[in-house]
Amino acid sequence: MEYQNLLVENRDRILFITINRPEKLNALNKATLQELHNAFSSALSDGAVGGIILTGAGAKAFVAGADISEFSSFNNEEGEKLARTGQTTVFNIIEQGTKPVIAAINGFALGGGLELAMACHIRIAAETARMGLPETTLGIIPGYGGTQRLTQLVGKGRALEMILSADMINAEEAYRIGLVNHVVSGEELISSSEKLMRTILSRSPIAVSAAIRAVNASFDKESNGYETEISLFGSCFGTPDFNEGVSAFTEKRKPDFIK
Ligand code: COA
Repeated sequence: MEYQNLLVENRDRILFITINRPEKLNALNKATLQELHNAFSSALSDGAVGGIILTGAGAKAFVAGADISEFSSFNNEEGEKLARTGQTTVFNIIEQGTKPVIAAINGFALGGGLELAMACHIRIAAETARMGLPETTLGIIPGYGGTQRLTQLVGKGRALEMILSADMINAEEAYRIGLVNHVVSGEELISSSEKLMRTILSRSPIAVSAAIRAVNASFDKESNGYETEISLFGSCFGTPDFNEGVSAFTEKRKPDFIK
């Protein structure tokens, strides 16, 4: 697939997706969101992709938000459509997809950029990264799931402080409050993300997918997460991964799961 705003490369089962509009600090315009939809949809159905690492081009920004120039004259309906389309076609697809996604936050992750990182399953930040939800400075609120996912990740009080103040926090603070999993140097960002993804890819793909679904169910108000866990736990038995995992344990060797 050809992309104008993304660099996409599969390196030994890890798909590296780099948002590539550095002159606009990788801001999410409509075209980029459409390409992200295409890239993630295709990655999720591509047997050659085990996991995805998402980052931004250049050293300055992961993503500096939704492209403000595109919605500056929107009315109520257009605003609602922007949020709904973004949430359903990109952010929810990443979060609910059953392949692990790591956000490698290389710089500013603001507004829709932080929302994109929060839709990923794991976040690793460069020590120079800065994160925030500055929407209230523009007279709007986060619309790509930020009010929900930030609250899930850091709790209501801290989420409200970040959203109401619109202040940015640095990587160390983001780590302290649980917004990112790790902070590493800029040089190590991609290698650390890859190392963690390689570990995940060495585990049972069936179990990894089931675990993502079960954890997501804890935030799904329509489902009972405990019931989802019971059912997914049951569904793992008798799979080739289960047979291989248990055989490997008994035979005192490392499991070699079907990729
Ligand atoms: N939408 C559209 N364009 C954006 C953008 C966004 N969210 N964020 C940055 N850009 C563009 C700037 O307009 C500028 O373009 P130009 O050179 O054509 O004028 C370019 O990216 C570089 O940004 P600039 O503001 O000059 O860099 P800076 O180092 O002075 O400031 C930021 C960096 C991140 C602090 C600043 O760009 C910013 O506040 N961006 C908007 C963040 C935001 O509110 N995001 C939430 C949107 S809902």
